[in-house]
Amino acid sequence: MTPNPRERLIVALDVANVREADAMVERLGDAVSFYKIGYQLAFGGGLPLAEALVRAGKQVFLDMKLHDIGNSVAGGVASVARMGVTFLTVHAFPQTMKAAVEARAGSALKILAVTVLTSYDDIDLSESGYQMSVDDLVARRAQQASDIGVDGLVCSPEEASPLRLVVGPEMLFVTPGIRPAGAASGDQKRVATPSQAIAAGADYLVVGRPITGASDPKAMAEKIVAEISAASQGGP
Ligand code: C5P
Repeated sequence: MTPNPRERLIVALDVANVREADAMVERLGDAVSFYKIGYQLAFGGGLPLAEALVRAGKQVFLDMKLHDIGNSVAGGVASVARMGVTFLTVHAFPQTMKAAVEARAGSALKILAVTVLTSYDDIDLSESGYQMSVDDLVARRAQQASDIGVDGLVCSPEEASPLRLVVGPEMLFVTPGIRPAGAASGDQKRVATPSQAIAAGADYLVVGRPITGASDPKAMAEKIVAEISAASQGGP
């Protein structure tokens, strides 16, 4: 079932500490219902914050990109599932994905796979021992994720259409690299507007600095929700 437009916006809380995160959540208020917590905040007190957000009725995406032996992945995923969060990332290695999918069974937690980190190019892969292009490895890992029963993929908006042909309709696509028209792209190399990402088949949009760095974060979040809403009805 397609979530409502507001639930499709995930705000990346890439801030240094819980105090800053609390202030941003307070400012965003009802405009935002879904937050992403990554390494920086998680290791700065963000895990209790994740549980507090869940208690406050928000959804949480823990971007922990797990990868370890299956037994350790399973233990970590089971603990995350008990926190009540909605999404957790793992690296798209078959053993890791299988352990994560098994360990989240019976909970509301959904596992998202990261195929190949977007900072990697073909030379980085070659240096890591892979005789394969980034595009080929992304497609292979997406197929494996689908076969294993992973719930979704983190992908760029431009990867979404080609990957949909690989994985079928039920896999969720969660796309960072979103920039409202006219916003600075920062260190993101490939960006798309919210409308372009929705048109490309994204289910959820991850937006950080365009919202957290805006002079009026709440107004920017509302603007993006409106754009998601228009785009999902086939509008501009
Ligand atoms: O500030 P910005 O909108 O660029 O934030 C995007 C978020 O998505 C960050 O938390 C970043 O870590 C995450 N991300 C990304 N590119 C990926 C995977 C995750 O930008 N390929």
